[in-house]
Amino acid sequence: MGDLQFSVPEAQPTQAEISNLRFALVRICLLLFFFVLVGCKSEKKVQSNFFSDNSLLTRREMIGERLYQRYCSGCHGTTGEGDGLHSYTLNPPPANHADTAYMNSLSDEYLFEIISNGGASVGKSTEMPRWKDVLGRNDINNVIIYLRKFPLPIRR
Ligand code: HEC
Repeated sequence: MGDLQFSVPEAQPTQAEISNLRFALVRICLLLFFFVLVGCKSEKKVQSNFFSDNSLLTRREMIGERLYQRYCSGCHGTTGEGDGLHSYTLNPPPANHADTAYMNSLSDEYLFEIISNGGASVGKSTEMPRWKDVLGRNDINNVIIYLRKFPLPIRR
């Protein structure tokens, strides 16, 4: 009995098969590129739960809305006007985020600082809590983006 010899026939792709494959790869890449482009362009917007009419919010604004309404509206009010339930016990009162002229005078950096570290960190009322233990950097920025939307048409 001699050794068994297995010989696998080598599959050599033909030149035509190689160039077909190349062509297919190029097409897949182009398609992916196209989807990425479209995906970046068309950001889905969603209807706000707190503002009427067609105020559509971006994803980040929507996250900001949820966080703001949960953590801030108790003092600053659902519409940002500084009239939340707790506001009546606070002196000085919570800021009015619907006052565009005033809000425009405050930089994003300043807003980030007071929201992260609280009123005391910028020489304001200690009644304004610090939020950095509750909210991450991204979330604080999402809240700031939402604050910048005030005042919006109000659902009454
Ligand atoms: C317990 C009540 C309370 C809560 C909750 C609260 N704030 Fe305040 N906030 C205040 C008060 C009071 C002031 C006014 C401070 C002052 O004028 O000295 C204030 C002021 C501010 C200011 C304005 C600072 C300025 O220079 O005028 C911003 C911005 C702000 N708060 C954002 C927020 C955000 C965002 C949240 C939620 C993450 C929040 N606050 C939650 C009480 C609160």
